[in-house]
Amino acid sequence: MVTKRRVGILISGRGSNMACLVEAARAPDYPAEIVLVLANKPEAGGLATAAAAGIATVAIDHRPFGQDRAAHEAAVDAALRAHDVEIVCLAGYMRLLTPYLVSRWAGRMLNIHPSLLPEFKGLHTHARAIAAGETEHGCTVHLVTEDLDSGPVLMQARVDVRPDDTEATLSARVLAAEHRLYPEALRKLASQPLPTADLTS
Ligand code: GAR
Repeated sequence: MVTKRRVGILISGRGSNMACLVEAARAPDYPAEIVLVLANKPEAGGLATAAAAGIATVAIDHRPFGQDRAAHEAAVDAALRAHDVEIVCLAGYMRLLTPYLVSRWAGRMLNIHPSLLPEFKGLHTHARAIAAGETEHGCTVHLVTEDLDSGPVLMQARVDVRPDDTEATLSARVLAAEHRLYPEALRKLASQPLPTADLTS
């Protein structure tokens, strides 16, 4: 039996990448299990998907915290620790993280981003790739560091940009690639020795 790392997934919306990770983790030989899905928006559609799959869910709405990002992140961190999470996967979690949460999960937090990083950090990546005349686009899974979309790349998947692509057609093709890539990337990280968590910050 493979040792399964305990994984928490952070979402803000529909959670299609989260659902793919949940599905992949069902395999007995997959080295991770999804023990918590956490959203910063109670209305995130992915929460119901996760609950229907039998995964523990929690919503920690960022809005009552106002400008106090650190307090919201402390609540998120506490929920992750309460579920003995070892690896965090950001999957469409649309919050900028502060050094507090990033440092506490250094080497143990993954993000998926819809571009071939370091190209097109930030939002609206598909429209920007088309506008730039790119012939190739794709997605990246990387370790999260303090700078947005800048941590060490774990894996990437490429897709061609077709002459008749729109933002909608390109984003659909990239999303399909994301759904294949993220389970592979989590498998890779979960199979490696993990750094010791530094909880001093
Ligand atoms: C995905 O395309 C993901 O790469 C992107 O949000 C979407 C979430 O979809 N993430 C970012 O843009 C982060 N900067 P999902 O909720 O269906 O997984």
